[in-house]
Amino acid sequence: MNIKKAVIPAAGFGTRFLPATKSVPKEMMPIVDKPAIQYVIEEAVEAGIEDILIITSRHKKSIEDYFDNEVELDILLDSKNKHEVVEKLKEITNLANIHFIRQKEAKGLGHAIWLAKTFIGNEPFAVILPDDLIYSDTPCLKQMIDQFNKYQSTILGVQRVDEDKVNKYGIISGKQLSEKIFEVDNLVEKPNVENAPSNVAIVGRYIITPEIFDILENLQVGVGGEIQLTDGLLKLLKNQSLYAYLFDGKRYDTGNTKGYLEAVVDYALKREDIREDFLMNLKSVIK
Ligand code: G1P
Repeated sequence: MNIKKAVIPAAGFGTRFLPATKSVPKEMMPIVDKPAIQYVIEEAVEAGIEDILIITSRHKKSIEDYFDNEVELDILLDSKNKHEVVEKLKEITNLANIHFIRQKEAKGLGHAIWLAKTFIGNEPFAVILPDDLIYSDTPCLKQMIDQFNKYQSTILGVQRVDEDKVNKYGIISGKQLSEKIFEVDNLVEKPNVENAPSNVAIVGRYIITPEIFDILENLQVGVGGEIQLTDGLLKLLKNQSLYAYLFDGKRYDTGNTKGYLEAVVDYALKREDIREDFLMNLKSVIK
């Protein structure tokens, strides 16, 4: 079955990035000159996704506006003969069918995903956490979908992390079937180092089968008093095999200041129109 739908949870407050995120959604913070969320949407589109549901909240109206037409701006740009900019803006609104729903209470990632139940219906779907920006030759989500096509079951995108960071992630353990694939036998959300089953961490890419929705509907709150997707996946493991895939690519956690800065610098250096001047400036600063 083809994966055509994706869910992007973008309702969180962005408390790791205050004060900027007091009034600017973290998903709208620019990586060079594009909002972070646009990169993950482009990744989804490149992986063949056609319909995307973004879970927002009260303070995230600017995300909806960004994917809508801005008629006045188009008229102004046209009058100044900046037609190519108008075209570029149109491309953003036409990237995919983008849908929105609001999470009315901060009840956690599991609850946010549960809100996608009607949108998804009875088919496997992708989840992309927009804080996790992944640079790779083959889009990370495309790699994940290739694995889904092979295993026909839930696939979690994972990377190894330093032992002292396991308490920031959902951690899996399992039997390593090949260099890049584990058959999962346990998942723990944000364990202490002592209780962590491994250092293999879930990074924000998932392909999940629709059985997850009934599980999330009845799930008790977990770590942090929130309904955790990881806890739901642990229950799913009772009924189906789950696989974890060590994807290729460099991951940036753009939800915190350091990760964000790393992403901005690396992405600026990858841009041909910016690279030379930017590098010269960097070199003059780093002595
Ligand atoms: C979420 C998930 C966690 C996962 C992480 C990846 O946590 O709950 O399992 O490892 O994303 O970024 P959050 O970072 O939203 O606290």
